[in-house]
Amino acid sequence: NKVDIDPAAYDAGEHDSFMHKEMLEQPARAEAVLRGRLDERFGTGHLGGLNLDARELRAIKRVKILGCGSAYYVGQMGASLIEELARVPADAEAASEFRYRNPIVEPDTLYVAVTQSGETIDTLLAVQEVRRKGGFVIGLVNVVGSAIAREVDGGIYLHAGPEVAVASTKALTNMYLAFAMLAIQLGRVRDLSIADGRRLINGLTAIPGQIEQVLAMEDHLATVAQQLGAAESLFFVGRVRGFPVAREGAQKFKEISYRHAEAYQTSELKHGPLALISPEVPTVAIVPDDELVERNVAALHEIAARGGPLVVITHPGVDLGDVPADRIDIPRNERELDPILLTIPLQVLAYHAALSLGHDIDKPRNLAKSVTVE
Ligand code: G6P
Repeated sequence: NKVDIDPAAYDAGEHDSFMHKEMLEQPARAEAVLRGRLDERFGTGHLGGLNLDARELRAIKRVKILGCGSAYYVGQMGASLIEELARVPADAEAASEFRYRNPIVEPDTLYVAVTQSGETIDTLLAVQEVRRKGGFVIGLVNVVGSAIAREVDGGIYLHAGPEVAVASTKALTNMYLAFAMLAIQLGRVRDLSIADGRRLINGLTAIPGQIEQVLAMEDHLATVAQQLGAAESLFFVGRVRGFPVAREGAQKFKEISYRHAEAYQTSELKHGPLALISPEVPTVAIVPDDELVERNVAALHEIAARGGPLVVITHPGVDLGDVPADRIDIPRNERELDPILLTIPLQVLAYHAALSLGHDIDKPRNLAKSVTVE
């Protein structure tokens, strides 16, 4: 049992699909989620809706993030931001699994429910389970007044505007930005310095314009996407910050292009999936210019040596050696904030692959925008 939003209630304007319209809205919607929430003077986030003062934020010992589908993958990006910036142990779990395993709910854990619709039944029931056991839950929710928004103890509205396409784009981007502000705020009541706080706040301020720059590469991405869409099966690989990016990229690709797309940690390729690499199986590799760039480039050589076609999402100036690859350079920001800009070209690739295959982009087969009944 699934409930669909009626797209006739909205208007895609000059776009061929809502997904396209929503992707292009991202710079403006990203500005909306950041507006009024960045404190440049003290280098921190200003998230009034959390209903937690500095002392309560300081007392949090662990963060548990719950969501489904794309929201779960962004949750993994959020967990790594929180661990990195606040040094608070954090992890994300599929809400659907969490609520069925008699979870341990601790009083000094901050629970975070992530959801575009605010109506996903698995996420809602996970929230209720946590609250029944006395846990404190905040929501990262797009739809104002939705079931989950009403159920939580506090939260951050995403201000992405109505999202119609099943494949989430602008809501997902704003989830990431909300996590970044939360991680900075949690960090600034701990050991994140004011200088680092300001550096990251400046980085966040630059993101809407940088998303615009990535979207301006649409023509190039469309050409690459057509080649990817021709393959029956593909890999998306990344490491550490880049791994949830690869998972989200594979998810988008399979949702709307119906190709078998599998995400893997680049470091684990040699422990199994390399056996599948061949000229018929392309790999989309996430290779930001970070601490792991040399290891990642070495893995590209392993793939190329087996004839695997490569698309590499990377930064200008990264030396890929003599590896043959379609290269997509995204703008540089602060390393910690790389995941969101790495995710944008993957949306455009999935969209154009599906378009070239002639699929219904906004309403992929077997899927619904909100799954509100078990
Ligand atoms: C469905 C959609 C996914 C979405 C997930 C969570 O499965 O097909 O695209 O990510 O629900 O939705 P939510 O509204 O909770 O973010």
